[in-house]
Amino acid sequence: MTTAMKKVAMVTGAASAMGDALDTHLISKGSWYVACLDLQRGPGEALAKSLAPDAHFWEANVADYDSQARMFQEVFSRWGRIDALLANAGIVDRSSLYILDHRGSNVIPPAPNLACIHVDYKGVVYGKQLAIHFMRKNPTPGGNIVATATVINFCRGIAPVLKLKDNITVNTVLPGIVPTRIIPQAMLAAVAPDYLTPISTIVMAYDRFLSNDNFETGLAIERSVDKLYTIPQTEYINGRASARACQVWEPLFKIMHSENSRLEDAIP
Ligand SMILES: NC(=O)c1ccc[n+]([C@@H]2O[C@H](COP(=O)([O-])OP(=O)(O)OC[C@H]3O[C@@H](n4cnc5c(N)ncnc54)[C@H](O)[C@@H]3O)[C@@H](O)[C@H]2O)c1
Repeated sequence: MTTAMKKVAMVTGAASAMGDALDTHLISKGSWYVACLDLQRGPGEALAKSLAPDAHFWEANVADYDSQARMFQEVFSRWGRIDALLANAGIVDRSSLYILDHRGSNVIPPAPNLACIHVDYKGVVYGKQLAIHFMRKNPTPGGNIVATATVINFCRGIAPVLKLKDNITVNTVLPGIVPTRIIPQAMLAAVAPDYLTPISTIVMAYDRFLSNDNFETGLAIERSVDKLYTIPQTEYINGRASARACQVWEPLFKIMHSENSRLEDAIP
């Protein structure tokens, strides 16, 4: 193993679209080696070849911890450092979250297809752990992880349709440090009592969401000590153009869920 002078970036989902663009961009800077990871060997190898000698392709599945771990190990063995993880691999949800087809059935619905969670969420969690491990071994320990994975947005995303169609609210409760047995005693001892969130605050938050008086949905609540804070949904930076990209497009919704969303702001 030799330690590269250039920085080393690992791009997951590297063989296509955004990943491809990320690989190409980093290589064009001249200061990066790029480890291209993807399930797709053919396009991945072709891309890495076109970016050679500073790019190399690895076939790996981010949803499989051992597969990602092997790749991290090989990348580190090749270049002696891992400076950045661009956790870009992802797939779209393959199942209907709302099981609208199943309305009126007395049969238990089949288990949901969680492939999206395995790839988009677990894949990021796995990558993050492996990146931490190897970034600690860098010549100057440290690095950058860039990813998008949040249950808050998952809940915010599904909330409007479920509210509209099924009278179901979906909200997120984000704990502070709550003194329960899952927090190691030593950690609790290190936290000033003023910074601990009592269980009563948790109960308050659940209570708020269990009462449908306001019919709040799609909220994320940070609970801190004795207070509840609604985490504001940030405004779209590019106004209507950004908002437009996030609206439901009815034809696609119908393909996936077999009926229209009927959301007020859906695009017909
Ligand atoms: N394109 C969009 O509008 C959009 C919107 C929101 C989020 N995203 C996210 O952006 C990221 C990039 O998407 P894209 O538009 O370039 O899509 P894409 O399908 O072109 O690229 C995704 C790449 O990830 C790879 N991949 C999928 N599952 C994998 C796995 N288990 N292990 C390794 N590689 C895997 C695919 O082979 C593909 O090359 C994805 O995480 C996607 O969910 C995309």
